[in-house]
Amino acid sequence: MAEFRLPANSKVGQGKHHKAEGGGDIRRYKVYRWNPDDAENPRVDTYEVDMSTCGPMVLDALIKIKNEIDPTLTFRRSCREGVCGSCAMNIDGTNTLACTRANDEVEGDVAIYPLPHLPVIKDLVPDLTTFYAQYASIEPWLKSTSPAPPDSERLQSEEDRQKLDGLYECILCACCSTSCPSYWWNGDRYLGPAALLQSYRWLIDSRDDSTGERLDDLEDPFRLYRCHTIMNCAKACPKSLNPAKAIAEVKKMMVQRRV
Ligand code: SF4
Ligand code: SF4
Ligand code: FES
Repeated sequence: MAEFRLPANSKVGQGKHHKAEGGGDIRRYKVYRWNPDDAENPRVDTYEVDMSTCGPMVLDALIKIKNEIDPTLTFRRSCREGVCGSCAMNIDGTNTLACTRANDEVEGDVAIYPLPHLPVIKDLVPDLTTFYAQYASIEPWLKSTSPAPPDSERLQSEEDRQKLDGLYECILCACCSTSCPSYWWNGDRYLGPAALLQSYRWLIDSRDDSTGERLDDLEDPFRLYRCHTIMNCAKACPKSLNPAKAIAEVKKMMVQRRV
């Protein structure tokens, strides 16, 4: 019988408990910690946060922890308003943005882990090198063979512009790709929902002249066809986009060009 065990150095242990001073409206945050500079296993530290002096979002709590309790806690953030995608992490079992997930939306203790199935650089910071390389591989820019009009932008009809709705809003947070089982198991060869949604954004752009070339590049048993329509991606997207639908449209374009 097959037996699966985690390597000893990957077991997550119980970490430090940072107790709040005094009483009040206290909430516990259980946060994944791992430091590449020591030989320790990962651990989960518990931080007690006084919510009467904390902002409403999970990111506010993390910033308060870093500023007032433990400056060694490491995480990414920038815009604080769901635009940059850098604060993506797993909160309460769901991939989401810390800056748009309200503390009140989580019941009980707040469990916070890095995005799953990616190498961890430190604490809540995942290594997105492969994810960005996959994005670059779909050549996310307009490729046109016709010269641009000398005195205006390249125009689109209103109808053609509307085709980009639900696609251009992607902030490349990676919540979808890291919730996709196909990407977990084949993340080195399957492009994943984020890169494929972006690919469709250029395939469907009426100003782009490289549709055939872009489709040729996806014609591969792994890059596109590892999507099995499990739909985790659409559920995870904090911008309410639907990468699974975009992937289905790309597959449809593949079939249509053969007939
Ligand atoms: S629909 Fe496709 S891309 Fe989305 S989670 Fe499922 S397998 Fe992954
Ligand atoms: S489709 Fe949604 S979840 Fe995926 S990278 Fe874009 S914004 Fe993030
Ligand atoms: S900090 Fe930019 S999306 Fe959360």
